[in-house]
Amino acid sequence: MKKLVVLISGEGSNLQAVIDACRQGRIPARVAAVFSNRADAFGLTRAARADVPAHALSPGDYPDRAAFDRALSHAIDRYQPDAVILAGYMRILSPEFVGRYAGRMLNIHPSLLPLYPGLHTHRQALANGDDVHGTSVHFVTEQLDGGPVILQAKVPIFADDAEADLIARIKTQEHDIYPLVIGWLLDGRLALNDNAAWLDGGLLPPAGYAAE
Ligand code: GAR
Repeated sequence: MKKLVVLISGEGSNLQAVIDACRQGRIPARVAAVFSNRADAFGLTRAARADVPAHALSPGDYPDRAAFDRALSHAIDRYQPDAVILAGYMRILSPEFVGRYAGRMLNIHPSLLPLYPGLHTHRQALANGDDVHGTSVHFVTEQLDGGPVILQAKVPIFADDAEADLIARIKTQEHDIYPLVIGWLLDGRLALNDNAAWLDGGLLPPAGYAAE
């Protein structure tokens, strides 16, 4: 059985979607461990409830980012994961960490990348009067939220939306598309080559896979 390690910082609803998809056979793997950079992340409770080993590492215990990431990768590698899944992991990664898991590390980011990398994406979409928002699953590269996109999902923005409405609408989509893409990766259908994403041997366009 293939193994995933999932990194989180907060609520862990995407982690839950991944755990559920593994249990239901929609992802051909199991979640071997969960790591958080915050001891109070609710996702750690979700992991424990699912009998998944859950660990918190505190960045304050390390002299710098590189040292924290070295400790984290050391701990991750004890589980020998086939893929590393970032699910609301809100820390910038060192180049060494990114390089170590290149081609087998995915992130989900709540915007239609390359729009709105970084924080507060929903707030920015609302402030700009956008009528569409979305989320992107992408390979992780050294460029923050800049790795090649594999799949996006779009949602409408309604006139009376508050930020919380949009966050919830986006997460509903995320819980569908992230397990799907993780399944593609574990089935050997996805590859990161020359800083581009490939699916079934075909180069994916900049907005990722598009189903008509
Ligand atoms: C998700 O919406 C995810 O896209 C976002 O954090 C949320 C985590 O929710 N990730 C980022 O912003 C990464 N740049 P969750 O903890 O309920 O899965």
